Amino acid sequence: MSSQQYSAHVEAPINIAFIKYWGKREGGEKLILPTNDSFSITLSTKPFRSKTSVVLRSDIAEDELWLNGKKSDIANTARILSVLAYVRANCPEELKNLKAYIVSENNFPTAAGMASSASGYCALSAALVKAFQANVDVSMLARLGSGSACRSAYGGFVIWHKGEKADGTDCIATQFVDEHYWPEVQVMCAVLKGEVKDVSSTSGMQQSLKTSPLMQERIATTVDKRMAEVSEAIKQKDFHKFAEITMTDSDDLQEICRTTTPKIQYATEDSYAMIRLIRAFNAKKGKNVVGYTFDAGANCFMFTLKKDLPEVVAMLMAHFPTDFSKFFFNDQALLAECEKAKAPEEHCNLIDYPKNTFEMLLQSPVGPGVVYVDESESLIKL
Ligand code: DP6
Repeated sequence: MSSQQYSAHVEAPINIAFIKYWGKREGGEKLILPTNDSFSITLSTKPFRSKTSVVLRSDIAEDELWLNGKKSDIANTARILSVLAYVRANCPEELKNLKAYIVSENNFPTAAGMASSASGYCALSAALVKAFQANVDVSMLARLGSGSACRSAYGGFVIWHKGEKADGTDCIATQFVDEHYWPEVQVMCAVLKGEVKDVSSTSGMQQSLKTSPLMQERIATTVDKRMAEVSEAIKQKDFHKFAEITMTDSDDLQEICRTTTPKIQYATEDSYAMIRLIRAFNAKKGKNVVGYTFDAGANCFMFTLKKDLPEVVAMLMAHFPTDFSKFFFNDQALLAECEKAKAPEEHCNLIDYPKNTFEMLLQSPVGPGVVYVDESESLIKL
């Protein structure tokens, strides 16, 4: 038997939620079962992605994972053990005893400060499902690694359904519309200088669930109502509405963190300045041209339409003047337009704030989700 026949090579993208996942329901910690549905946009695998190669082997004693050149301590990483156990429980009998040799890498610059767990666990899961020929939904397996990872399995606009079952088999992601439905939508991420967060999302969300008085209403009514409204806005391609709901959900998450005991704060002064700036810009334009959203970190994710992106970037640069060498764009023609764009006087002093810079500015269109690549692109040279 050649072990090469049991191999897979995968690239997986980042996703960014506009209706947030924040809390695991009772008894759902290990299986990662959320309190509510969430909704996200999948980015392109260019410029940033996680990549994983898996080869099943009979000549090694244990599963091995090499992450960015370093060997991981799998035995002490409960979530990786959980992913491996689940895939083995659902694969053909003759493959169960083969060991998984896994090599993974992320190409995000260190300065990106962006979470790679979503793309990383998604790439790992998609590669394992294929190599083990397992009868498992990729999003369901990725969820066992990190909740938000399940949404990277699909392209376009993606819903992670909270599900009802205790075993989590209905707690999966599905595609709402694919990446071709509303291709004008673009994602940017302004990576802001900030302190390293001291509360992980995993523990922060459970602290909020226990202590924030705002969580109950979010779970009972707010999210369901918002999911319905935002679905309609996407169907209608109503960007103003879409951005409004996005910003409201992001503000709610920050408010939940503020009312958590002990208080959690991910946003920095630069993050708050970005919020004021985007609000001021939208007010000047008389409609929402940009929507912001923040995760458990300082970085500002933005959604905008392609036709507006150069004007938005010029306005951002008037306030956060950042060298073009720090721009990581998927679309080089769009980058060239941004380099030429100059903000008009009325977009130049929208907030009173020091002229800080971004660490990096990322641009991506809506992307297609997991991509299986060819053996020739394997990270494993045996
Ligand atoms: C704020 O997926 O990192 O980004 O399931 O414990 O691994 P675990 O948490 P994680 O939480 C992400 C939270 C968020 C919102 C979101 O992506 O929906």
